[in-house]
Amino acid sequence: MTEKEQELIQQAEEAVGKNKNKVEADPYRLRFHLMSPVGLINDPNGWIQWNGTYHMFYQWNPMKPGHGAKFWGHYTSEDLVNWTHQPIALAPSEWFEKNGCYSGSAVDLDGRLTLYYTGNVKDDEGNRSSYQCIAQSDDGITFDKQGPVIDELPDGYTAHFRDPKVWKQNGMWYMVIGAQTEDLKGHALLYRSEDGRDWTCMGPVAGAEMAPLQDFGYMWECPDLFSLGDKGVLVVSPQGLEAEGMHYRNVYQAGYFAGELDLETPKFHHGAFDELDRGFEFYAPQTTEDENGRRILVGWMGVPDQQEDQHPTIENGWIHCLTIPRVLTLRGDRLIQTPAEELRALRSGEVSHETVTIDGGGQALEGVAGDVMELEIDVSRMAPYFEIDLRGEARIIFDREAKTLTFERRNFADRLTEKRQCHLEELRSLRLFLDTSSVELFVNGGEEVFTSRYFPAPDNREIRFGATGPAEVSVRKWALGQTD
Ligand code: FRU
Repeated sequence: MTEKEQELIQQAEEAVGKNKNKVEADPYRLRFHLMSPVGLINDPNGWIQWNGTYHMFYQWNPMKPGHGAKFWGHYTSEDLVNWTHQPIALAPSEWFEKNGCYSGSAVDLDGRLTLYYTGNVKDDEGNRSSYQCIAQSDDGITFDKQGPVIDELPDGYTAHFRDPKVWKQNGMWYMVIGAQTEDLKGHALLYRSEDGRDWTCMGPVAGAEMAPLQDFGYMWECPDLFSLGDKGVLVVSPQGLEAEGMHYRNVYQAGYFAGELDLETPKFHHGAFDELDRGFEFYAPQTTEDENGRRILVGWMGVPDQQEDQHPTIENGWIHCLTIPRVLTLRGDRLIQTPAEELRALRSGEVSHETVTIDGGGQALEGVAGDVMELEIDVSRMAPYFEIDLRGEARIIFDREAKTLTFERRNFADRLTEKRQCHLEELRSLRLFLDTSSVELFVNGGEEVFTSRYFPAPDNREIRFGATGPAEVSVRKWALGQTD
């Protein structure tokens, strides 16, 4: 470890020591979501199951609840439910990463846990350089930095060149990187390597102004390219899409294309872009294939530049969290997302209401209240209008005539009501994961997902149902808590 690295890690530890009590006393601190101990967490990084253990690294600024020179924080888990916080994996100590060890991924290279990440560098005039770097570990805990493996920008691209996602296919290593052309189009660039160290640029596989897309953003962040069943999927976070009706309402988007990857040309032949999540806070997701062959996605429950400086937790020294892990499957060209089965282990104290009638407003169900819970709602008869009020702070509304599902909340800064919506033909089921200050809603078995933060009065624990009815639903509720 270099002296500079030691110094930065010590500063981070001091920041944790100094702010921990204040952070942990915040009633909005989450109970079953991954957070940084203090400061700011953004993208999930290096998501992998390695020798049986799940590793989740994350973009972390330990120094303050705002962006800056990022570290890689690190959690491990045997079961996706109980997580152990590990020592800092990467600190931005070297010349090639001095303004941040930015996002990247993990693979097993020659039996070592190997991180690929972007070294972000800014000079005194604010000019950016980006280096794709490697760090390796034998024990999965301490990493040995080997510096840049790609230190040149490809021709025609700016220094907005980051977030390498690496995988192995047919005996070759591939890397997809988020990039921006000199005329400000977002692209996903493909690299290839025989040994994981010596990389060749193969060209863009998809991007703005590349068929079938026209205008499609000025930068693509965090691309992730993988196969699912017999299809290819490209998950990406494009910046610069204009809002269109119910779509693209957040400052930046995160979504996917389904298609077919031709690694030789190279080109990803794909259909239309669809958002992965309809909620307010979701960005920069990353997937991994675990040892059971499941494709598991975790996202950042936040969006860059979207009122980040107005989150109520900032005054307590922390901001943001990651989403729960979701297993991906394809139905046709549509991604279906379901919470990892393992999360059932968090359940306790089942309350069940078989086929209750909701007719009118503000109906509470006995035992269905709290701040940290899972709710499963199966619909046997739907009314023209159905809603669930969450702790007086947010509402889920199905409008059968308009065929829309709406998530409405009070904005955490100005307290005005704001909404996100999607088209929904029919409402069959809702599955809700509520934490102290977050909502993850899975609709009709994961056909649609809404992920958002919300900040209800901590003592308001009311869940109320309403319908212009009648509607008939079965409701099951569990408290969610640590399993050991
Ligand atoms: C996405 C992102 C990445 C970058 C990282 C920096 O949220 O902007 O493109 O690597 O965050 O923290």
